[in-house]
Amino acid sequence: MTLNSYTQLLDRMREIGWIDGAAGLLSWDQETYMPAAAIEFRAAQLAYFKGRTHRLFTADEVGGWIKECESAAFSSLSKEAVNVREWRRAYDRATKLSPELVEEFERSTSMAWSAWIAARKGNDFAVFKPHLAKLLDLSRQMAEAWGYAKLPYDALLDGYEPGARTDELQKVFAELKPGIVRLIEKIGPSARSASKSTLPGPFPIEAQKLFNQAVAERIGFDFTSGRIDIAAHPFCTGIGPSDCRLTTRYDDNDFTDSLYSVLHECGHGLYDQGLPKEDFGTPMGSAVSLGIHESQSRLWENHVGRSREFWNYWLPVAQKHFPTLATNTAEDLYRHVNQVRPSLIRVEADEVTYDLHIILRFELEQKLLHRELSVEDLPEAWNTTFKRLFGLEVPDDTRGCLQDIHWSHGSFGYFPTYTLGNLNASQLIQNVRNENPNLNAELAQGDYGSLLRSLRHKIHQHGHRYLPPELMKEATGESTQGRYHAAYLERKFGS
Ligand code: CO
Repeated sequence: MTLNSYTQLLDRMREIGWIDGAAGLLSWDQETYMPAAAIEFRAAQLAYFKGRTHRLFTADEVGGWIKECESAAFSSLSKEAVNVREWRRAYDRATKLSPELVEEFERSTSMAWSAWIAARKGNDFAVFKPHLAKLLDLSRQMAEAWGYAKLPYDALLDGYEPGARTDELQKVFAELKPGIVRLIEKIGPSARSASKSTLPGPFPIEAQKLFNQAVAERIGFDFTSGRIDIAAHPFCTGIGPSDCRLTTRYDDNDFTDSLYSVLHECGHGLYDQGLPKEDFGTPMGSAVSLGIHESQSRLWENHVGRSREFWNYWLPVAQKHFPTLATNTAEDLYRHVNQVRPSLIRVEADEVTYDLHIILRFELEQKLLHRELSVEDLPEAWNTTFKRLFGLEVPDDTRGCLQDIHWSHGSFGYFPTYTLGNLNASQLIQNVRNENPNLNAELAQGDYGSLLRSLRHKIHQHGHRYLPPELMKEATGESTQGRYHAAYLERKFGS
């Protein structure tokens, strides 16, 4: 009987997986090749798919099958036990909200998003203010419906980073913050006045494509199961087993822009390509969280790609593709891609200042959600905190609290996963280095095989087997800590 329920669940989830894969491919097409006038039809198609999978997943019989499976004696952490545990988590999140609340949230986010576009364009926070207040109110209602350990923020966080807790993140981030503030105080004043270094271009796009492909292939991205195309915003999307799509964008004045997008998205892609293919459509075959996913992208982008070892190996190859680099040294490239400058905009931030942008948002969105800060007072709170942390005056809200799209989507609790990604990346590579003292020598030879095997073994193969804190413990001996990343930044930028 129970085995039967499990088989029925598997069938249902694979069906959902097929539809999600088709929808994913349509979304990818929308960002890459779709003719502009097709947008309305495409939006309708995608909305249909979304509604269809939601109904398939939240159907009463699914709840019944999960319940039956829960009374079965699957051995702990077996594939079946993990899938049932995660189906329960997702089913409860999807069904604990009333359809009215879900609909109101959907409606409110589309309106908030267009208000945000207008507010940002006109530098007028007042236009966005009532929408932000509404989304916060609905998010509080959703948190109450889902339930939480200590704080409403926990319930929202759990949607992006299962098992993460606000108070634990506060502790971990507090370990990180003083070191960054010190580094900024030290590097900041000179960096703020220095102009950004440039490389001798131009860098033809065709040559950039070939160079990026050579790097991606070498670090292990499987081009028989994936491809790289052009899009306005770089992303990685897993369509299904053996089909992973990456995108990047090109600037012919600086080839490193597209290169680091490719390295970042490749890190995501390697994770997708390393998930157990036979478990497609089930939790065991999918990535566990945003904070773990981002650790893979940051590890390849920053710890591998922005290292001296990387440029010692790749400079001669780059010079073949870009003859204008003939007189540049590996050290020139290293310095060019590691410039630190406190700036107003998060998405343009360097490795040192990035997490401070996140910590600011993490602190403010908790206060907003928990009614310790009114929406009215947000711009002022943003600007004074920003001045204290970065030493910069925020000239307008467009470059202040209106800069990110996330809050207009009602995504509260999403930002901390970026910093979790950085922390996990530093902790993971430190652990790999402890186990393999030759790692730096290998990377200097352009040999990435043992690093990728370690990540496959520690992270990729497990899918959802462990919640992120346990996964990090299994992989490195500790749940996510702040000090590894703080130490990495200090070593790299402190002297
Ligand atoms: Co990413």
